[in-house]
Amino acid sequence: SDKVLRARVLTFFERPDSLDDESCYAFWEDGAVVTDGGRIAWRGNFSDLPEAYRTLPVTDHRPGILMPGFIDTHAHFAQMGVIASYGAQLLDWLHGYTFVQEALFEDEAHAQSIAACYLDEILRHGVTTSVVYGTSHKTAMDAFFAEAEARGLCMIAGKVLMDRNAPGNLLDTSQSGYDDSRRLIDTWHGRGRLHYAVTPRFAITCSEAQLDLAGTLMRETPDVFLQTHLCENRSEIEETARLFPGARDYLDVYESNGLLGPRSLFGHCIHLEPRERTALKESRSVAVFCPTSNLFLGSGLFDYETLTESGVRVALATDVGAGTSYSMLATASEAYKVSQLCGYSLNPLESFYLLTLGNARALSMEDRIGALEAGSDADLIVVDSQATSAMRTRMQSSSSLTDELFVLQTLGDDRCIAATYIAGERLK
Ligand code: GUN
Ligand code: ZN
Repeated sequence: SDKVLRARVLTFFERPDSLDDESCYAFWEDGAVVTDGGRIAWRGNFSDLPEAYRTLPVTDHRPGILMPGFIDTHAHFAQMGVIASYGAQLLDWLHGYTFVQEALFEDEAHAQSIAACYLDEILRHGVTTSVVYGTSHKTAMDAFFAEAEARGLCMIAGKVLMDRNAPGNLLDTSQSGYDDSRRLIDTWHGRGRLHYAVTPRFAITCSEAQLDLAGTLMRETPDVFLQTHLCENRSEIEETARLFPGARDYLDVYESNGLLGPRSLFGHCIHLEPRERTALKESRSVAVFCPTSNLFLGSGLFDYETLTESGVRVALATDVGAGTSYSMLATASEAYKVSQLCGYSLNPLESFYLLTLGNARALSMEDRIGALEAGSDADLIVVDSQATSAMRTRMQSSSSLTDELFVLQTLGDDRCIAATYIAGERLK
């Protein structure tokens, strides 16, 4: 199934810090990507296509822009039934809506059906890799991983660990949480394109013993990920301080259990103390910016500029279902608005870098996904900046790539995803 995809082609090399930073990316107006055995074999100007590939079938996606598939670094597949729930901030939202829906995942058939819906939904939105929270049910994770494997996807996911301060039907114990995670890691981690993330929900729902065992899981399996929530909401932070009186601050609850490091992803990071910022930086942990969620729950404004300039690794994510859109374009648009409120204009080159190579780097997966390099996995999307009549009208006054990308993120959504390829195979 080797093929040539002809399109306008965009890929990043580095984080662009200004609109005219042309050294950070390559853009070919008439470009081509050759896929071979699920990988990228070549990319460049269509007219420079090497002799060896000239007999391959060509699909012409012009004027669509071919780029690496988007990466979502924080989402909850079990919250498809929670998205768009009215009137609450974090802790009330969790108890009033989220835990109720998550309890349904005790039923493996339900988990399987929602896992399939979730993966099909994100693929329609051009998201080809996602970092996913399950529920506390191990069978729900088996269902999720099986659905991801059936689609050939590169996914990172984990069973939620929560052994207190939630309804009894959602609680594990520190030991059962450890055992179930261990079994899931042994079954799924490194199988095909699947990876495991140890997933203590957050400090409030995890005992010290559970966090300690999460650290044990990390040490036992060096290349697993860790995902959790940090400093999202003021009441959450107060409650955490009350539950962990010995901790220096919120992050210290995780730090003292060995949970920081280059494969650790901390969702939200809105209300950080300077010490927490420094510890994130020094441990090379990742702060995950979830703008639609942070606005929806009224949690606060993520300070993208301060965090990146302090040397903290930053990623961008939907956080469905506190997040309100499956679209990474819509997510970039809200990231722009949040940054405006913080006095920083996140430029569209930087946004598209984040959606692709930036998020891949946050996952230390840039050798496989996030860029169009020979040898990388051919997870690709074609993006159409004329997908709606409002976009076509706006695009009449557009004359640059950066303006086009800004129109895409501001007005675009799933209607702009004209094609999705997974390991070189077209899905849509
Ligand atoms: N903190 C603990 N659990 C959650 C969750 O499911 N969503 C969000 N946004 N924050 C959390
Ligand atoms: Zn979350």
